[in-house]
Amino acid sequence: MLLEVRELQVEFRTQDGVAHAVNGVSYEVDAGETLAVLGESGSGKSVTAQAVMGILDMPPGRITGGQILFQGQDLLKLREEERRKIRGAGMAMIFQDALSALNPVISVGDQLGEMFVVHRGMSARDARAKAVELMERVRIPAAAQRVRDYPHQFSGGMRQRIMIAMALALEPALIIADEPTTALDVTVQAQVMDLLAELQREYHMGLILITHDLGVVADVADRIAVMYAGKIVESAPVRDIYKAPAHPYTRGLLDSIPRLDQKGQELYAIKGLPPNLMDIPPGCSFHPRCPMAQDVCRTDEPPLYEVSDVRGSACHFWRECLNG
Ligand SMILES: Nc1ncnc2c1ncn2[C@@H]1O[C@H](COP(=O)(O)OP(=O)(O)OP(=O)(O)O)[C@@H](O)[C@H]1O
Ligand SMILES: [Mg+2]
Repeated sequence: MLLEVRELQVEFRTQDGVAHAVNGVSYEVDAGETLAVLGESGSGKSVTAQAVMGILDMPPGRITGGQILFQGQDLLKLREEERRKIRGAGMAMIFQDALSALNPVISVGDQLGEMFVVHRGMSARDARAKAVELMERVRIPAAAQRVRDYPHQFSGGMRQRIMIAMALALEPALIIADEPTTALDVTVQAQVMDLLAELQREYHMGLILITHDLGVVADVADRIAVMYAGKIVESAPVRDIYKAPAHPYTRGLLDSIPRLDQKGQELYAIKGLPPNLMDIPPGCSFHPRCPMAQDVCRTDEPPLYEVSDVRGSACHFWRECLNG
């Protein structure tokens, strides 16, 4: 297994109290596999990813439990220097906002080239050639000329391609893409997502795709992990989830995707708000918003029940949900 996150726990100590952002998250990604991580804002998707990348804000963040095994090595036991080597060469991250992730005063060619100079000891000239090659890889038109341009001279979609190129530069085994297309127009979104999926297959990388858009994952992901209040509430192959969700929260997410064949119908929205992470409800944290909640849900925290050998649901009533 390429990456195994086991029972990860992250909290943030703030003046107002302790925010329990990640509460025992476990997930796995293998080489060549795409895991989509889904959930509303604040569910802990990015914090989990930051912990894996080793870029968590500490303090105020603190990893209070769990393991992160990358190619069999427990990353939480490594020194920062060793972590840094793994970042870039072993795993890389693509962020939502390329404009703030890229350096505005350095040409994209120099930023791409620097990866090869620093990590591979290449000459400036060879690094420049590599930069052009990468830009061609992510299909930036007229790459040989545009290599001298600065980030602001590119459109949003092209900048996102440059960030994908940066992530790919050292051919990492794992890429984490955190809302990589959220800031783009819908048509450009699809192009960038297709490119990412294509390169992922070609390089046989593991990909963690963080999104709150269930619509985009259907085509590209192998598995989905649905997060709620810092926990995985459902984990399953994509096909299974689309066939029938085994958690009412997943159902809520699915029902809130706009559908072309139901034009004019009011869009479903999950009622209520995600919990305050400083005061997570007892029992199932989703129970205050759940249309299926019973007394047991208010008192007993559901474990991740085994729905099948490839599927888990943290709902006491997963059977009813599957059949409902
Ligand atoms: N730097 C920080 N300081 C304090 N609390 C933080 C910090 N970063 C994250 N948190 C807490 O962790 C929670 C989870 O944040 P996270 O960024 O993982 O959410 P997310 O699922 O990625 O949401 P989104 O879809 O909005 O990106 C936040 O709601 C917040 O309470
Ligand atoms: Mg996020």
